[in-house]
Formats: sequence, structure tokens, C-alpha cells
Amino acid sequence: MPEEDRSLKEQEQFRERKPLTEQKAGHDLHCLAPRFIMGLLIAGARATGTTASWLMTYLGGHPDWRSKAAAEIEDLLASRCSSPISSPTHETPSAGSPSSSLSAQLASIPIGAWENETPVLDALIRETTRIAQPHTAMRRNLGPELYINNKIIPTGAYVIYPFSDVHLDPEIYPDPWKFDPGRKEVTHVPFGYVGWGGGKTVCLGTRLAKLELKLVTAMFVLGFRHFAVDKMGKPSNPLPAPNWNDILLCRPPVGSFKLKYERTSRQL
Ligand code: HEM
Repeated sequence: MPEEDRSLKEQEQFRERKPLTEQKAGHDLHCLAPRFIMGLLIAGARATGTTASWLMTYLGGHPDWRSKAAAEIEDLLASRCSSPISSPTHETPSAGSPSSSLSAQLASIPIGAWENETPVLDALIRETTRIAQPHTAMRRNLGPELYINNKIIPTGAYVIYPFSDVHLDPEIYPDPWKFDPGRKEVTHVPFGYVGWGGGKTVCLGTRLAKLELKLVTAMFVLGFRHFAVDKMGKPSNPLPAPNWNDILLCRPPVGSFKLKYERTSRQL
């Protein structure tokens, strides 16, 4: 509204208003804690949950990788678990012995072992975040203006970067939609994998997220037998591909497959 159209009181208020930066600083400080918590919840829960769902889906359609993951966790239990180990596949453990539950056994494995002695789980997580995390990074150029691929990026402009540009590029990842945790890590292309971010903005929750994913996988592959099946209950082949247009969850068409599962005799 032009200043001359305002009432005298409004004009006075308008002139006395605090500079925008000052108003904003107050507002930002006021909102910082809730924003931070909401940000962490969204960053953490959304990405970890969807990655875990897709990881279980892929394992349900790739029994070979499922077995490799199970074997790796059994080895880890055998070498690093300090809780009494009940029989892996048979015998119901005695009631009232929570320390022999699978969760207690997994919890007794040192974090360092989870982080450094699980190459199969690492490969599974890497391949899942490559193929089923439809992230788009956004950056603002704070100045000065710069060029990317001969295009000018003015000061203040935003640059949007979809991870599909690299994660689904057939020249970097041949047959990019194929779930293949056995792929060699891409080292010949800078930023050839950005599943946890890149440059100055890397995921601050990477260690927590990986640990959570490994524990979920361990509980699932040792506590259940599961398979991806179609509407007829037959093995789902091929598995539905993640939908990158569903920017949050990557969900495939509703009802395109199900996960069929049965419990093992292991006490969870
Ligand atoms: C599978 C799980 C996760 C994946 C794939 C993931 C991925 C990412 C990616 C790609 C970025 C960079 C975003 C960008 O460049 O725009 C990022 C940033 C971030 N992530 Fe995660 N994340 C996961 C879980 C978590 C968890 C569990 C937390 C915390 C509890 C978390 C906290 C953050 C934070 C705070 C940032 C912003 C870092 C910054 O701005 O410097 N993330 N994450």
C-alpha cells in the first residue's frame, strides 16, 4: 500500500517498524528450537523409515542378499555378542530370560563392530540409498554470482539438484534400476554417490541412521523369513521400481506387491 494511502496511525507505525533483519532475528530465535526439532524429526524419521522399507523390500526379492546379510549378522553375534546366545533357528528360549532375546543379543554388540565389521550391510544400505532416496538438494547462492556449466547463477538465486542426476545415470551405474549391492563403489566420478549429501552439507545423522538400519535388518532377517510376492502370492518378479516422482516415500503403485512373512523360532 503506498504510504500516502495509510491512516496517520498506520503511517506512524510503518515508520517506527523495526528493520526487517531485526524482526526476522527475533522471529528466528523464537522459532529456532521447534524448527530444529521438526527438522530433525523429518530428516531422521522420513529418510530412515523409507530406506528401511525399501531395504526390506529388496531383501524380500533377493534371497541371495538376504542370506548374505543373515550370515554376516550370525558371524557378528558369534564373535561379538556378550549375551548368552540361544540356538539361532530352533528351540524356544526359556521364558523369563530376556538376555537371550535377539534384541538383547544385538544390543550387546559394540557400536564399533556394527560400524566397521558389516561390509554386506554397508553395501545393502548404500545401494538402497542410491536407488530409493528421491532427494533433491537446494542451495542459495549467497554471492558473488557464479557460473555452472556456462549458466549464470546470480547472487540470491537458488540452485536445485536432484540426486537422480547421478544415482540413476547409466554411465555411472550401468542398468541403474537394478538393485545390485555388489556394484563397485564409484570413485572415478566426483560426487558419484551423494546418498548422505556432499561438500559442506552432509547428513549429520549418518551414523545413527546406519546403525538403525542395520539393527532393523538384523531383527528382520533373523526374526522372520520374508518374501516379496505379487497379488497371487507368487514371488514378485521383477520387483516394482521406486517411484522418484513420489518425492517423500518413493512408493510404487498401491497393491503392486506385498511382503509375506513368517516368524522364525528366535525370541525377538
Ligand atoms: C537413511 C536415513 C537418512 C538419509 C538417507 C539422509 C540423507 C541426508 C542427505 C542426503 C542430506 C543432505 C541434504 C542436502 O544436501 O540438501 C542430509 C542432511 C541432514 N540430515 Fe540426514 N539422512 C538420513 C537420516 C538422518 C537422521 C536419522 C538424522 C538425525 C537424527 C539426520 C539429520 C540430518 C541433518 C541435521 C541434515 C542437515 C545437515 C546440514 O544442513 O548441514 N538425517 N541427510
